[in-house]
Amino acid sequence: MCGIVGYVGPRNAVDVLINGLSKLEYRGYDSAGVAVNTGNHLEIRKNAGKLGVLSEALKGQSLTGTLGIGHTRWATHGRPNDVNAHPHATEDGKIVIIHNGIIENYLPLKESLIAKGHSFKSETDSEVLAHLIEEQYKGNLEQAVRTALKQVRGAYSLVVTHADHREIVAARTVSPLVMGVGNGENFLASDVPALLAYTREVIFLHDGDMVVIHENDYRITDLAGNEVSREVTHIEWDAEAAEKGGFDTYTLKEIFEQPQALTNTLLGRLRDETGEVDLDINLDPKSFKRISIIACGTAFYAGLVGEYLIEQLARIPVEVDVASEYRYRQPLVSENTLAIVISQSGETIDTLEALREAKKDGAKTLGVINAKGSSMTREVDDVLYIHSGPEIGVASTKVYTSMVSAMLMLALWLGRARGTLDSAKGAELIHAARELPRLVEQALEPERVENIKRIAEKYKNARDYLFLGRGVNAPTAFEGALKLKELSYIHAEAYAAGEMKHGPIALIDENLPVVAIATDSFLLEKTISNIQEVRARSGQVIAVVSDGDTDASRHADDVIFVPKAHEMVSPIVNVVALQLLAYFTATTLGKDVDKPRNLAKSVTVE
Ligand code: M6R
Repeated sequence: MCGIVGYVGPRNAVDVLINGLSKLEYRGYDSAGVAVNTGNHLEIRKNAGKLGVLSEALKGQSLTGTLGIGHTRWATHGRPNDVNAHPHATEDGKIVIIHNGIIENYLPLKESLIAKGHSFKSETDSEVLAHLIEEQYKGNLEQAVRTALKQVRGAYSLVVTHADHREIVAARTVSPLVMGVGNGENFLASDVPALLAYTREVIFLHDGDMVVIHENDYRITDLAGNEVSREVTHIEWDAEAAEKGGFDTYTLKEIFEQPQALTNTLLGRLRDETGEVDLDINLDPKSFKRISIIACGTAFYAGLVGEYLIEQLARIPVEVDVASEYRYRQPLVSENTLAIVISQSGETIDTLEALREAKKDGAKTLGVINAKGSSMTREVDDVLYIHSGPEIGVASTKVYTSMVSAMLMLALWLGRARGTLDSAKGAELIHAARELPRLVEQALEPERVENIKRIAEKYKNARDYLFLGRGVNAPTAFEGALKLKELSYIHAEAYAAGEMKHGPIALIDENLPVVAIATDSFLLEKTISNIQEVRARSGQVIAVVSDGDTDASRHADDVIFVPKAHEMVSPIVNVVALQLLAYFTATTLGKDVDKPRNLAKSVTVE
């Protein structure tokens, strides 16, 4: 999960690389580095720390050239220091590589290369690639890369250049790689935002593809050397859409983009008259006897809401797994199973491998995915895109609400087709879904935001938080706790409210803020009883309450009013308050919300 950029053309490569890497720092920011062909040799500059450290170091240095490669690192093998930063070079400095992924057999490869006389500088797995390629190099870089990769096991997007060739050779297996097609220039990157300042024409390289780029041409082959043809995709987002757009941080911008993102997710898919949805899915909704939802992190919590909705509306048994467990637990799968993978990036390796596992055992597969052209979209039987637009903040916000609304539409699709949901109930839920952008807009009104900011400030010194929710809003509590942990580093636990008395109640004292989701619900009275249990033990209750509910608000120390929504869609409205609570707690504590420590946006290692 590192970020990669490559460039060949007439521009100053350093500018293209630094600008491209600045759009990829969400993929990792332990170190950054560039290698530029200055005309007669490859010059490397690299530093531990965020990209800013490298750009500062480059100021005032005369590093120029029109071919180069750059990398921003999320450390796996080897500490995040200058030596382990990419690019890595051979001893003579002729061959330079950058790599995203993990070379699983790097140790035996390294030992055999050392035995042949190679000396290594770093602790990384990636450095073996430079030496392996050097071993195979007999004047043709493409051929050397191809032969070297035959010995490699693992995941990579690999970009290589040689001081004596005005070309860049790249290859991918598992880890993502996109090529940008320019006019008299060509680009490589881990993700599209790195390319948008220069071109909108991109090629999503597939697993097992190799590409050689020069300024005026490129050639794509498979690893065996056979030419393959890949479609050029025109990207419609403008560079501005991937920028902060006036907000202090990407995360805040993305929280505020939710009304628009929800509009995009629902657009053209709701049929008010019949209470149906049109999802353009080529799978038979009546053919499934059970559903497996597989995802990680925030996407997993969207899956838990999906479980509730599908079981209620379509009456099919659903199980939800974290992908890293699913892939190893030998799940019972048949051709009557629909495996739904949920993922923002479409590249999360645990989810991708779990998808492969489900497919192997005969399940039909469906992806609920944001990133177009990502690996999962190519491997599932069908895709329901959530259309949230690029999400740069490492902590997911807008994709969560879009994922949940996509799960609602899937539940409607299944329920209507299977006859478990009549048209009147379908129409009622479609009306509720249509209201979502407006309700989320209201949830973001300035006075509500100010109230949440005040509460965040009041409890900022808490050591722990407890989140409670019931029914369809139990996952809202889980997601609220995850956001608080990720952004503020405050420990938070979440429980289904009724479970509190079976253990977590022992934690409650006057120092523990308890966030209780107490919005309009057939279970509200029970939640209020749970709140009383907290208050009887001096816990501090922050209640999330539907507008106008003076009864529920009486039981809390602090109240966050949220717009009243249909219970089945209420998780989408309620979570916005918890995103803001986590966000302002973190900013009050001075945390870097866009890039929380130790995290990466797209987790492409196991
Ligand atoms: O790209 P994905 O949706 O597959 O990512 C899954 C998780 O890694 C992701 O949701 C992670 O938990 C985020 N940090 C949540 O904010």
